[in-house]
Amino acid sequence: MKHSELKLYKQNSQKITCLTAYDASMAKLLDNTGIDAILIGDSLGMVIQGDINTRSVSMRDMLYHTSIVAKACKNALIIADMPFRSYEDPQNALNNARDLIDNGAQMVKIEGGIEHSEVIKTLISNNINVCGHLGLQPQLIVHSGEYKVQGRDEDSAQSIINNSVLLESLGVSVLVLECVPSNLAKLVSEQIKIPTIGIGAGNDCDGQVLVSFDMLGITSGKQPRFVRNFLNSQDSISAAVKSYIMEVKEGTFPSESESY
Ligand code: KIV
Repeated sequence: MKHSELKLYKQNSQKITCLTAYDASMAKLLDNTGIDAILIGDSLGMVIQGDINTRSVSMRDMLYHTSIVAKACKNALIIADMPFRSYEDPQNALNNARDLIDNGAQMVKIEGGIEHSEVIKTLISNNINVCGHLGLQPQLIVHSGEYKVQGRDEDSAQSIINNSVLLESLGVSVLVLECVPSNLAKLVSEQIKIPTIGIGAGNDCDGQVLVSFDMLGITSGKQPRFVRNFLNSQDSISAAVKSYIMEVKEGTFPSESESY
């Protein structure tokens, strides 16, 4: 998928499929299987580095993983997370985002809304494509018990709506919505013209993303309800990825019981 196709997918009600990758082999497999977008997520802090949150991931880590993933891909849109504390002011954000782009990213992802307006304006005015991320923001999580559904009460739901509209007006290309009730994600997806990509946000989003290690059953411990192990019903990793792509495209993943 090309960046220019994002809005077309939404206009044509074609769902966008995205999974995370951190290494060349998985990236190549995803790319060959026909995934639309690959996210080099700072979830690598947890699934690769074994930490309990994403806050220790450095720019150096992100540059390394972005470059090895990007080199392995021909078709997928490559999105790289800007790690914790890498976008504290516009100039520092611009330098870091440029480094990610120079290492193969086609878009960078930033968690949060209005508090990052100046950073986002600076990146976009310097031709850097930006993906927003609202709802649960993993970079704000310090302890494992803090992973909770966001936007359940009226004020926090309104703040997610306002921030979504603001991010669109700033020129953000696509918006990840994490761990929010499906009716809120539906409302946001109907209100903005840029695509929403949900994770734990129901199937009315314009696309879906999962952490690849979660959907292949590699991650240990109790999984959130939005994680489905696609390898359970398939006999290979590429069949599991194909099944994920098909279910997202057909709108059967996530089901109601996999949503909030
Ligand atoms: O880091 C990551 O993998 C992410 C996804 C959970 C959206 O941000």
